[in-house]
Amino acid sequence: MDTNLNLAEGSRNLRIGDTAPDFEARSTIGPVKLSNFRERWLILFSHPADFTPVCTTEFVELARQAGEFEKRDCALMALSVDSLFSHFAWLRMIRDRFEIEVRFPIVEDPTLVIGRAFGMVAPQDNDSATVRTTFFIDPSGVIRAMTCYPASMGRSIPEMLRMLDALQAIDARDALAPANWQPGEPLLKPPTQDLDEVFGAGDETAWFLRETGKGKGK
Ligand code: BEZ
Repeated sequence: MDTNLNLAEGSRNLRIGDTAPDFEARSTIGPVKLSNFRERWLILFSHPADFTPVCTTEFVELARQAGEFEKRDCALMALSVDSLFSHFAWLRMIRDRFEIEVRFPIVEDPTLVIGRAFGMVAPQDNDSATVRTTFFIDPSGVIRAMTCYPASMGRSIPEMLRMLDALQAIDARDALAPANWQPGEPLLKPPTQDLDEVFGAGDETAWFLRETGKGKGK
């Protein structure tokens, strides 16, 4: 299948706020088109290779937590350079060995055209492996956060869920999430741009460090 539908040639440095480049590709659940996932949150993430130890632990844990992403109306989509049939064989091994079925799509990207368009591969890198890049894409198709881990380090699935919760709470309440924020904890109000509010605030920090209502509970 031609994966190169709307992808500009070469590698891009995508940033927060960019619209995720659209693509269509074969996956373990059939052909997928990124833009068809609009209206929901989407976590698109790359892994270096099938049948590798750290990737296997990530996929087992993501499959175990799939219901948590579903509860948050968030689809998962994985991607690597491996072929569709490698993905199938790996998922079968995971099912047999770990008794869990990975049901979210894993895209094949044998030419790295998608990986390069998303900056998941260094432009000068001839190694086919993508690093562990994760894109949090909102229901309008905009990249809202991204993380990049080395091949040698597995992602934290609770942290992926926390980031998703924070992004959703921020949007729902037009607020900010402080350091170490967890669902159910207070959010922060955006800083005021009104001098009267600055002078009228009760104490010296209240004008710029103000809590607002609590985010979504656990
Ligand atoms: C891993 O997932 O275990 C892995 C992938 C690529 C290189 C090294 C380790």
